[in-house]
Amino acid sequence: MKDIRLLMIGFGNVGRAFARLLMQKQVTLENSYGIRAKVTGIFTARHGACINANGIDLNEALHLVENKQDLGVLSTQSFKGDTFDFIKTCPADVLIETTPVNPQAGTPAIDHLRTGFECGMHGITANKGPVVYAYRKLNELAQSKGLKFRFESAVMDGAPIFSLHRHTLAGAEIEGFVGILNSCTNLLIEAMEDGTSLEDAVRHAQEIGIAESDPSNDIDGWDAAIKVAALSTVLMNHPITPLDVDRTGIRGISSQMIADAKLQGKRWKLVCRGGWENDKFIAQVKPEMVGVDSPLFSVAGTSSFVSFALDVLPGLGILESDPSPKTTAFGLLADLIDIYKGA
Ligand SMILES: NC(=O)c1ccc[n+]([C@@H]2O[C@H](COP(=O)([O-])OP(=O)(O)OC[C@H]3O[C@@H](n4cnc5c(N)ncnc54)[C@H](OP(=O)(O)O)[C@@H]3O)[C@@H](O)[C@H]2O)c1
Repeated sequence: MKDIRLLMIGFGNVGRAFARLLMQKQVTLENSYGIRAKVTGIFTARHGACINANGIDLNEALHLVENKQDLGVLSTQSFKGDTFDFIKTCPADVLIETTPVNPQAGTPAIDHLRTGFECGMHGITANKGPVVYAYRKLNELAQSKGLKFRFESAVMDGAPIFSLHRHTLAGAEIEGFVGILNSCTNLLIEAMEDGTSLEDAVRHAQEIGIAESDPSNDIDGWDAAIKVAALSTVLMNHPITPLDVDRTGIRGISSQMIADAKLQGKRWKLVCRGGWENDKFIAQVKPEMVGVDSPLFSVAGTSSFVSFALDVLPGLGILESDPSPKTTAFGLLADLIDIYKGA
């Protein structure tokens, strides 16, 4: 049995879902993978931090944060300092990074992971920022220390995208991809198809927690663009940032356009594309009208879809339905198992 100590930076929706999943899957981890995992440190922005080398009681930690209390009461050693001091202080084998994405630069998550690698920890993140802005550098740093950098949850939550490429598609070359990678806009367009205005649809999406208070990240296509950049960078070895993506959001879709599409038996979708066309790399996020002959037509609600064109498989599609923080947490858990499988 391999004892693994986990340090969690971030204990929000995804971090807490991961803590729950870790408890739920404890027996599976032990019996099927020989992994006995305990969380030795949790650091947050506004809910304090705690270190316990023997393992933090995760039910207690969940209860404290969900009741807006400070985690410090769970600490068996006193700690003062910032996130980086915490990473250097806490005894751990793996850093689980789930802080909010910084779409402009990827920091401070990049620096959290770098510090973890420098302290000898494997790094797992759900954050797209480090993948887009520092994939090569972080990967090289990890490899130079015999460590692993994993980020399955960064695109399409826990759906296997990066691991599929890393393991199952070994030997195949991805030439391009097309998909729906932002579930919020997919839901908003669907509400507009039912006669709701974009403004009312955004308000409703905010009420149910799908859209952020500033929805521009979704409706102006930035979230989709960062995902296009992540797929291009990692899967196609073509490093780009969201600024390199030809990006149009959904603000220009009018009710008239929706009605016209309906008359033709079509739908508007915010389509993401990446790939080589005539020796030129195309990276694009743009509303497109799609017909029933397209696999994008029936991608419903908060679901996501991506289809890859490979040199050996002309079309391979992955559909992820009804994502939740638990789905994202599964990506983190799968990364953890991947790191230790056969180790
Ligand atoms: N939600 C999803 O289903 C989903 C899906 C795919 C990917 N992701 C990615 O997963 C990450 C986490 O998402 P989330 O929904 O869990 O976010 P969240 O609920 O906002 O939680 C973020 C956590 O990070 C902590 N934090 C913020 N800044 C920090 C800093 N500088 N140092 C240390 N801790 C810090 C926060 O502390 P406080 O608790 O004190 O505020 C909170 O615990 C994001 O990068 C997101 O893009 C999320």
